[in-house]
Parts: sequence; C-alpha cells; structure tokens
Amino acid sequence: MTQIRTKIAGMGYYLPKNVVTNDDLAKVMETSDEWIKERTGIEERRYVTRFKDTPATMGAEAAKIAIERAGITKDDVDLIIFATLSADYFFPGGGVLVQRELGMGTIPALDVRNQCSGFIYSMTIADQFIRTGTYKNILVIGSESHSAGLDFSTRGRNVTVIFGDGAGAAIVQPTTEEGKGLLASNIHSDGRYAEKLAFMNPGSHSGVFTKDFSMYPTEEEEPYASLMITPKMMETGNYYPNMDGPFVFKNAVRRFPETIMESLTTAGYTIKDLDMLIPHQANLRIAQFVQKTLQLTDDQVYNNIQKYGNTTAASIPIALCEAWEQGKIKDGDLVCLAAFGSGFTWGSALFRW
Ligand code: UT7
Repeated sequence: MTQIRTKIAGMGYYLPKNVVTNDDLAKVMETSDEWIKERTGIEERRYVTRFKDTPATMGAEAAKIAIERAGITKDDVDLIIFATLSADYFFPGGGVLVQRELGMGTIPALDVRNQCSGFIYSMTIADQFIRTGTYKNILVIGSESHSAGLDFSTRGRNVTVIFGDGAGAAIVQPTTEEGKGLLASNIHSDGRYAEKLAFMNPGSHSGVFTKDFSMYPTEEEEPYASLMITPKMMETGNYYPNMDGPFVFKNAVRRFPETIMESLTTAGYTIKDLDMLIPHQANLRIAQFVQKTLQLTDDQVYNNIQKYGNTTAASIPIALCEAWEQGKIKDGDLVCLAAFGSGFTWGSALFRW
C-alpha cells in the first residue's frame, strides 16, 4: 500500500516594518548592545506597528504567501492551526480571526498554546489529519506580538531584550512520493517547570500554583476566583512574563539534542545524514551549544535570531522559509525542525524535502 506522508507545499512569513536595535532598548532600560550581543547574539528585532499588526493579521499575511506558493487558493484550505502565546484576545483564539481576515469558509480553526514549541506541536497535529486522509490542505501558522506585553523597565530586561514580533506560515499536504515528507516527529512536556518561563498574571490560578495569594483579593473582598488584574499586581509589577534564564538555558541545551536524535533514530538516520537543522531561535548561544554537541557544521544549522530576536511560535517557520528562499534547503535534503521552551515543552520534526 502506498504510504501517505505530510509535506510542506508552501511557506511564507511576515515581519513588521519597525526595526528596534539593541541601542534603542538601551535608551529605555539599563542594558547595552554589547551585553545583548554577547549573551544572545541578537542585534535587532521587529516590533508591531500599533493599530496595524496583530498576531492574527500578521499570520494572515504570512498565510497568503504560503497559500500562493503552494499553488492553491484560500478556499482550498480545510483546517487552520494557529500557534501563539500572545493572542489577540484571551478568547476566542487567533485561528478564527485568521479565518475571518482571509475570508475563508466555515472551516475548523484550532489554537495551539505551546509557546516556543507551538509550530512543532502544530505540525504533528497536522500530520495526523493528513495521514488519516481527513484533510488535504492544512494552514499551519506561528505568530507573535511579544512587544505588546513586555516590561520595558530595567526590571524586565532579561526577558524583554530577547523577544521580537513576526509570523510564519506553511501549507501542508499529503504526498505519496517515495521517502519524502515528514519522516518522524516527537513532542514532549515537563510541567514541573511551568513557572520557570511564564506569563501568569492576571490568571485564574488565583495564586494556587505560585502560593502568592497576596496578589489576589481575599475571600471576604471577592468570593470568586478572578482573572482580573489587581491593584497589588500593579503595585508589584507582577503582570509581565518572567523567566529563570539560566535554568531554561540548561534544560534547552539538554532537550534540543535529545529530541533531534529521537527523530533521526526513529527514521533510521544518524546525525551525519542531516542536511539542515532549523532550531527554534531562542538564543544564538543555545543554537551554538547544540551545534557543538551534535558536531554539526555551520552549513548544517540555520540561524537568523541576530535580525529578528526570539519570535517564539513564529521563529521556526520564519527561519525555515528564509533558509529555503536562500537556497539552503534543496529537493531531497534531510531537514530537522526542533524547539524547546515554556511549559517546558519541546519536540522535533524530521522532513525529507
Ligand atoms: O525561547 C524560549 C526559551 N528561552 C530561552 O531559551 C532563554 C534561555 N536563557 C537565556 O537565553 C539566558 O539565560 C539569558 C539571555 C536570558 C540571560 O543570559 P545569562 O547569561 O543567563 O544571564 P543571567 O540571567 O545569569 O544574568 C547575568 C547578569 C545579571 O546581573 P548580576 O546579577 O550578575 O549582576 C543580570 O541582572 O546579567 C544581568 N542582566 C542584564 N544585563 C544587561 C540580565 N539581563 C540583562 C540585560 N542587560 N538585558
């Protein structure tokens, strides 16, 4: 029987026009171009233009390019999978906003909340629908507008300098071409470290997991759990993302090689067979560490964090599309996408192009 696999038929990305350099950030917080470059490799990033770009609109722009390159129309798409941590609304999710932006029919729109691993999780979900023959054209999007929720005071500098905005999209389709398409993938999580990189407040946890009940009204003041921002949160500034950077770093450099090797082994390959690794663009130092651990050459790893910062769910589709546009991914290449991030969640997807 012919085997059906998932292939990427078209890709696109959208980056907001507003370029923000390290020196621009140094004007509003205590940081420097030297520190940011040395610790992260980042030189500049893009920020959305207010009243113009949102995760949904950027995702829709990236999707238009992916749809065109796949040689289909918006009406051929039969499922949207939308990954973001910086959604336009708390609910509904961004998938339906993309569906509206693109004027699509009443197709399903699924939202994925797996942060830096969002695109890998989305791809593995898409793969199930493709291999079972349920859908023929799935639009997978990763899109982020981090700048809308960062702390631009010195207090938030360890998080803020890393992140950037942007979107990437792919159309995935079935292929029966021998040996081509998604050969292996794996996804993982470890919720023990959920708060090590998190945006918790306001949230309906009401302090249960953080044990900081003081940020929430007492039962006498407010009998119900509240999602609202409280005066105490305002006072303490406890309504921004927080990250234990060194702890995340340590786990990332362990999980990246593990997940990459897992996909390679499942598909019957070794690291020597790999033509291109597209790592989630978390920190150039993490990518370099992984490259060294796996003994890959510079030509086998694609990085663009220098220009765009860490765009979370968008970073893999942007980097993949850019590498492909530059001719660095060719027909028949073995390409691995890999991510690690908040949750913790991580995973990889291995394609024969
Ligand atoms: O994509 C999701 C996954 N996220 C990641 O993978 C991020 C992983 N972690 C990292 O990339 C790094 O831990 C960071 C880039 C966030 C931080 O780099 P680091 O080398 O781990 O620095 P650190 O947090 O240990 O801080 C070292 C020093 C501290 O000062 P003291 O205590 O030594 O005086 C920080 O306060 O650097 C200070 N610092 C800064 N200084 C200037 C932290 N952020 C900044 C900053 N500018 N932006």
